[in-house]
Amino acid sequence: MASNERILILGSEGQLGSELSVILQQKHGLQNVICSDIRNGKPEADRRFMELDVLDAEAIEQVIISENITTIYLLAAVLSAKGETNPNFAWKLNMDSLLHVLNFAVKHKVNRVFWPSSIAAFGPTTPRDFTPQLPYMDPTTVYGISKLSGELWCQYYFNRYGLDVRSLRYPGIISWKTPPGGGTTDYAVEIFHEALKKNEYTCFLQENTALPMMFVDDAIRATIELMEAPAESIKVRTSYNLAAVSFTPGELAKSIQKRMPDFKMGYKTDYRQAIADGWPSSIDDSAARKDWGWNHQFDTEGMVDEMLDNLKKQLLG
Ligand code: SER
Repeated sequence: MASNERILILGSEGQLGSELSVILQQKHGLQNVICSDIRNGKPEADRRFMELDVLDAEAIEQVIISENITTIYLLAAVLSAKGETNPNFAWKLNMDSLLHVLNFAVKHKVNRVFWPSSIAAFGPTTPRDFTPQLPYMDPTTVYGISKLSGELWCQYYFNRYGLDVRSLRYPGIISWKTPPGGGTTDYAVEIFHEALKKNEYTCFLQENTALPMMFVDDAIRATIELMEAPAESIKVRTSYNLAAVSFTPGELAKSIQKRMPDFKMGYKTDYRQAIADGWPSSIDDSAARKDWGWNHQFDTEGMVDEMLDNLKKQLLG
């Protein structure tokens, strides 16, 4: 397929990258999508993959130049829970990678950059229900601090250099192809694996902790739609609130029990409870809906069906 875009994905093997890369390859052609990750990529015919550490500034710049990159998706990150085990490294990885990409994008005239933010950019003083686009934000995790700071850097590069950098504040992403790594919302993925393998799950969050969530297909579509929207419709240059559904571990367990009546849910909270307690329970994403037409498709029941059906097939091999 002919495409004028030359795309670099940093972090292509993670939860979002592994699915976004396939859609971008379909749209722009295998040769025009350079996948990269610190981990070994899956060997597939004709797929462009290179091992790249996002902290290796020189290597990133080389790829941008040699591959004539026009669009960069920076998806590599240390997530909320893992970040707390090594805050200095999480800060370094999350911030240095962003600043490298922003600087090289300006220097080498890259057209467009995508960088993900998160509900972790909010904090305990932020209104929890239907959290608005621009409330008071006081993140308590190093991941959240890096997301809030990163949003402001994105806006700064847009204002100062005219760089077309776009961002979404993802809620917890629920996916079956690739697991998330080191997040606080990971329970909502683990629960499906354990339900199918053991018919029981012990949750590290309390039964009544509501968090905003989204099925991965919606998250990928939101990313593509944001990136394809005309520049003049992008009014928020920090990061857009993005929402689909919101549920508690107790509600998710009930929804699984409708399909698997013997499924048992237990609770044993750990340090991740305090992280979740500082996050919104639901999100007002009306700016995204108004500016570039965002609309989610999967509700909680639809998402549960997709997860169980696909994981069952995967387990059966
Ligand atoms: N899902 C992420 C996490 O739990 C939030 O961005 O860290």
